[in-house]
Amino acid sequence: MSKKKIAIYPGSFDPLTNGHVDVIERALEIFDEVIVAVLHNPSKKSLFSSAERVEMIKQSMNGLTPVQVDTFDGLLVEYARIKKATAVIRGMRAISDFENEFQMALMNRKLNKDIQSVFLMTGLRWIFTSSSIIKEAAQFGGDISDMVPEPVQLKLMEKFPKLNN
Ligand code: PNS
Repeated sequence: MSKKKIAIYPGSFDPLTNGHVDVIERALEIFDEVIVAVLHNPSKKSLFSSAERVEMIKQSMNGLTPVQVDTFDGLLVEYARIKKATAVIRGMRAISDFENEFQMALMNRKLNKDIQSVFLMTGLRWIFTSSSIIKEAAQFGGDISDMVPEPVQLKLMEKFPKLNN
């Protein structure tokens, strides 16, 4: 029997967007299992706690079985090794993402040459979608309903109640 191909999809996911969901769906066409790994870094300022981010992702994935949701801290490649993953997935939106992603991929390769970085292009409709721009719009009452899964939209409305309700 051939070995199950596992990929880690790491990120801040503060919060999950439809662009992230698009990348997860594409990754599932290549890998048998995708572990969405939320960075737990208490010193990094985030809108949602890592537990809240995990919960929103689980709700948005709606029990899709080949997707696991977890948190990690420390080195990504070390986490990937422990999980027996052979690849790290990153979504690519525009050229502006490239430099940072290239640097991270080369550092990860230096740290563990057995783990490959795989870049997946998001669908065109999500090219301008980012967690930070969604948070900013939601904060000022902007309609972000077609940019995030429903559980995320509800949670954003909870965080910014006055303007949204
Ligand atoms: O969604 P983000 O914020 O772009 O994700 C960045 C993330 C979590 C993938 C990156 O910060 C990371 O891998 N952090 C773990 C620490 C690590 O392994 N650093 C060395 C490689 S650059």
